Amino acid sequence: MSTTTSYMGLTLKNPIIVGASTYTNSAAKIKKLEQHGAAAVVLKSLYEEQILADSGKLVEQDDMYFWYPEAIEVVNGFSKEDGVNEYLELIQDAKSAVDIPVIASINCRTPKEWPAFAQKIESAGADGLELNIYISPADVEDGRTLEDTYLAIVKEVRANTKLPIAVKIGYYFSDVARFVTQLSSTGIEGLVLFNRYYRKNFWPVRRRFR
Ligand SMILES: Cc1cc2nc3c(=O)[nH]c(=O)nc-3n(C[C@H](O)[C@H](O)[C@H](O)COP(=O)(O)O)c2cc1C
Repeated sequence: MSTTTSYMGLTLKNPIIVGASTYTNSAAKIKKLEQHGAAAVVLKSLYEEQILADSGKLVEQDDMYFWYPEAIEVVNGFSKEDGVNEYLELIQDAKSAVDIPVIASINCRTPKEWPAFAQKIESAGADGLELNIYISPADVEDGRTLEDTYLAIVKEVRANTKLPIAVKIGYYFSDVARFVTQLSSTGIEGLVLFNRYYRKNFWPVRRRFR
């Protein structure tokens, strides 16, 4: 039986894609995933904070409530060049280690910085780009502004790369059907539902109300 399928225009030998996580942060781990049958991987995200650099100051100033603990760890002590170059090397290493598609992932919060960076990812050999977008609703005035920022990010990246793009979103939207219809009209090739954000104290509270 053939389990071949397609995703973002990429041909996959089966529909199993390992999502962005600590399983996909090194070429050696990705090789193992391929050996165990994964048909594609999404690399651990590069955080926009890494790209925006002067990271020590950024971490001090920013509200880190919604950051992944890994992001805080990674961003502390990295200069712009370090973070970005290391990520480009991860793409290259993964591509030479495996035959399955390797999809890069960027955690983004603003439509800045994208033109040059999307092109670098493309040149490093990634087969696709997943945009892991998260903007805290507390940081913007209203829902429409929040959605408009997501759309601006996607349009900016779309304009700057020919790579197939998937957009990964969380579940904090009041009208998901309308919003994803808008996202799909930007010319992206995929939509990933849903991210699960790290929030301090969130899980115990949620459990109590279940
Ligand atoms: C330890 C860990 C690290 C993760 N790192 C990333 C990441 O770098 N980028 C991303 O888009 N998602 C990341 N995720 C989210 C997963 O890719 C996935 O979207 C999320 O866990 C929801 O799927 P689940 O409900 O099956 O866990 C991470 C998740 C975990 C548990």
